[in-house]
Amino acid sequence: MIIAIDGPAGAGKSTVSKILAKKLGFLYIDTGAMYRALTLKAIQNNIDVKDTAGLIALARQSQIDLRNEKDGSLLISLDGKDVTREIRQPRITKLVSDIAKIKEVRQVMLGLQRKLGREKDSVLDGRDIGTVVFPDADKKFYIDADFKERARRRYKELRELNQPVTPQDIEADVANRDNIDSTREFAPLKKADDAIFIDTTHMTIAEVVETLLKYIKSPRHHVTTSPE
Ligand code: DC
Repeated sequence: MIIAIDGPAGAGKSTVSKILAKKLGFLYIDTGAMYRALTLKAIQNNIDVKDTAGLIALARQSQIDLRNEKDGSLLISLDGKDVTREIRQPRITKLVSDIAKIKEVRQVMLGLQRKLGREKDSVLDGRDIGTVVFPDADKKFYIDADFKERARRRYKELRELNQPVTPQDIEADVANRDNIDSTREFAPLKKADDAIFIDTTHMTIAEVVETLLKYIKSPRHHVTTSPE
């Protein structure tokens, strides 16, 4: 079974996807983490975000792996090295959307994501899972929240990781990524027509997880709210 969870930064996708996957005994595939790992490698190799050919070559020669730990946490490795924490740094976040908009880079990631998803029942979160990576996913969700709330969540998350950020930095970053992710030519952030839309602005994490589980367990669903 494939569960696709898409939406913009800070909507709560990764937090709920992780819990959901653990509850269901599924693999959790954080597709944003893959783009982040590649961004880290580009920085380490001094490859500029404008060097499209260099970035494509880098994507093709990188070994990015995900491992779900028993406690539900996720380990990301790049060429065999654990980069789980490093890829959350603001310097990565600032560049990742520009790297993720390159078509051939996306093709490499798509291959990896499909391979992982086909091996085991999975929950995938990202921007294009329900539209491009697994258009035939068994359940699709599009999770969103008000801009201010998304920025507030991202800020809190980064402060918990001891990152030196200000609320202003985060608002600028979220707005910038929303813009790049939703206007890019290839696989932009978009709600799949058959995805269930959930506005999490006033919901707790537990409420979101419960809502998702209810839809997953019901053989049929109705799309009750839609942003259109
Ligand atoms: O979810 P995140 O913040 O870790 O994602 C980082 C970036 O990766 C995001 O700004 C856009 C890109 N991304 C993407 O283009 N497609 C995906 N499926 C997941 C993430």
